[in-house]
Amino acid sequence: MTTFETLRLDGVTRRFAGADALAGLDLEIRRGEFIALLGPSGCGKSTALNCLAGLLPLSDGSIWRDGTRLDTLPPERRGFGMVFQNYALFPHMSVRKNVSFGLKMRGVARAEIRRRTDEAIRLVHLEEHAAKLPGQLSGGQQQRVAIARAVVVEPSLVLMDEPLSNLDAKLRLEMRTEIRRLHQNLGLTTVYVTHDQEEALSMADRLVVLRAGRVQQIGTPEEVHNRPANRHVADFLGFRNLLPGIAGGGSVKINNWQVSGTPVGAVAEGDPVVAAIRPEDVVLGGGSGIEVTVEVVEYHGREIAAEARTVDGLPLHLRTSERLAPGDKVAVAFPPERLLVFPA
Ligand SMILES: Nc1ncnc2c1ncn2[C@@H]1O[C@H](COP(=O)(O)OP(=O)(O)OP(=O)(O)O)[C@@H](O)[C@H]1O
Ligand SMILES: [Mg+2]
Repeated sequence: MTTFETLRLDGVTRRFAGADALAGLDLEIRRGEFIALLGPSGCGKSTALNCLAGLLPLSDGSIWRDGTRLDTLPPERRGFGMVFQNYALFPHMSVRKNVSFGLKMRGVARAEIRRRTDEAIRLVHLEEHAAKLPGQLSGGQQQRVAIARAVVVEPSLVLMDEPLSNLDAKLRLEMRTEIRRLHQNLGLTTVYVTHDQEEALSMADRLVVLRAGRVQQIGTPEEVHNRPANRHVADFLGFRNLLPGIAGGGSVKINNWQVSGTPVGAVAEGDPVVAAIRPEDVVLGGGSGIEVTVEVVEYHGREIAAEARTVDGLPLHLRTSERLAPGDKVAVAFPPERLLVFPA
């Protein structure tokens, strides 16, 4: 097994027909880390992963494993394991054969192949299904075969491209924990692609947020969740209320109201800004004087999500345990530390 201390991406760029699908990605991955690449469809996540795997040549930049240049090596010489979104299992081979395939290709001795294949199948809880063909398994079981096949060769890096996107909600949650557990127990280094912010926040040690091929922010789940670097990251991380306003000294004027917020980035008095707050951070009641009328209510178990509108027509998303109904008029307030003010 090829191990490393750091894997470094240096200005990794990939162009298709002259347009940057990925532009100058700088990232240092430490051994044992779980990195999530997060962003909307088309932002360059798969491109980044495929560049790392060696399935796509770089247009610019380089990739280094400690002091060794990697981007000039073919995929099979990088020693990475890959889990594709569509599993890509061999349909005519049993689970056991699918899992052991990579070891056979590497010329590992038979007894060793048996031992490691059993171990990998056990890790993903597929002992009872080892003799079946992929077509005889559920989507979640096939996904686990794909994961076992990737980790059995003890890769120095595991790359996963939206591995849970075809699964139902319950199985997605279970597999999240399962993948995180495998990562920890096997001491893997993992790069995981997803467009699901919750998945990224719950699984990763660090997130790389991409937009239109460019890195917007790299940080821990807490950093990215609490302090998105710009309005695009905020938008993508659940700040559903993005209210246009004008910056005043330490406050924001949104239509007729003056509210206090926390500036993120360079904001000067008189600048157009966007004030961002999550629905669950909007407080009901309070003496702010902002009144809204509830228009639509969605049931979410303990809580409801409501879309409301201010007297001057600004839509506002709320989340609360209070039982609101369409037509209700309520006062709302924005805790200043939860209202982030970005340059527009
Ligand atoms: N083979 C290709 N030829 C031309 N353009 C491509 C090719 N592959 C990707 N692109 C373009 O590069 C950009 C990034 O694509 P990429 O597949 O990396 O996005 P993604 O973030 O993985 O999206 P998704 O979440 O939809 O899978 C897109 O604009 C896409 O159209
Ligand atoms: Mg993709």
